Amino acid sequence: MDYHAGLYIRLSKEDEREGQSESVTNQLSLLTAFAKEHKLCVFDTYIDDDDIIGLNQKTLKKEVLPIKPYFFIPYLLFTQERRTPMAKIIAVVNEKGGVGKTATATTLAYLLSKRGHRTALIDFDGQGHSSIISGVQNTNKLEITINTLLRRLIEDQPLPAPESYIIQTASGVDLVPSNTQLFTLERNLCNVDFRERILSQYVDTIKDNYDYIIIDCMPQMGKPMINVMMCADSIIIPTQAELLSAQGLAELLKHYQAIQKNSNHHLRIEGILITMDSPNTILSAQVNELIQRGFADRVPIFKTHIPRSIKVAESVLYHQTICEFMPENPAAIAYERFTDELLSESHTKTAERSA
Ligand SMILES: Nc1ncnc2c1ncn2[C@@H]1O[C@H](COP(=O)(O)OP(=O)(O)O)[C@@H](O)[C@H]1O
Ligand SMILES: [Mg+2]
Repeated sequence: MDYHAGLYIRLSKEDEREGQSESVTNQLSLLTAFAKEHKLCVFDTYIDDDDIIGLNQKTLKKEVLPIKPYFFIPYLLFTQERRTPMAKIIAVVNEKGGVGKTATATTLAYLLSKRGHRTALIDFDGQGHSSIISGVQNTNKLEITINTLLRRLIEDQPLPAPESYIIQTASGVDLVPSNTQLFTLERNLCNVDFRERILSQYVDTIKDNYDYIIIDCMPQMGKPMINVMMCADSIIIPTQAELLSAQGLAELLKHYQAIQKNSNHHLRIEGILITMDSPNTILSAQVNELIQRGFADRVPIFKTHIPRSIKVAESVLYHQTICEFMPENPAAIAYERFTDELLSESHTKTAERSA
């Protein structure tokens, strides 16, 4: 079979003029080497600059992509040169269930949106808990979910327009919902080229519209989660303040390190977030010590802990995060502080150093 590759350079000549990027010539030679290594035939290249082809990125994707290339590979997908990304992609990850991933992802997305950041939340768990908290009554009635979108990419079908499936929630967050169909993704990813990049490919289609994209993850490692780690800029690891949760962290860090070292060098850990904490108890002190001793030299640990409060579980019944449901609740206040900490400059520097 004849394969063609349309290679698309996202960096413009303007960046080059300002000395921010490799020269276009260098980018081209990197592309050609990549194509050769992967036995792709390059028949044309497009540079994201109006004077060259007279099309902006969106038109380029819409008009050129369907007619010509079979593979349309953004330059930024396979280089670590992901400069000035439009959105920061933060995944909330832990292989263990019930540790506060969904509470953290939905609350963080809400708070970022409340603070004026354009925020999307991708529900990447077949249980659809983020979708439910965000107001979806019956996830199995959804026509388009993250699974449908990824499936279309796998089958080389065009994606529907984001307006047709993104749910604008009452909290101001744009939701890409999920339902139980996502459980089939692992199977569908077999025998697909670039299969670890399918989620990146999808996120690239919406990323220009947001400042932050938060991904609420499923509680297991596997091909779908490798997709998450390939696509994310950083991860937050919520950990319930109990011993077994803390011990599971070592396993997760091994996966992170493997992906970070071999594939996505750009990936960072924002930090471990201790959730469902009961301050001033012996257990809490022990867990803290275990985490500090085991990880503090390698991974940032958020100073803010999220206390346990039954109101967090209760807020789910009202399709709200704790910060909407009861902003004065200690867990809500802690989530506000955690967001301050995440966005602070000193935190950003610490996370940059983590590897
Ligand atoms: N700080 C908290 N205090 C009390 N309950 C919490 C807290 N955070 C989450 N929960 C509850 O614990 C359960 C598991 O949390 P969840 O965020 O769904 O975890 P995960 O997504 O990791 O499975 C849910 O019922 C949730 O409402
Ligand atoms: Mg969850």
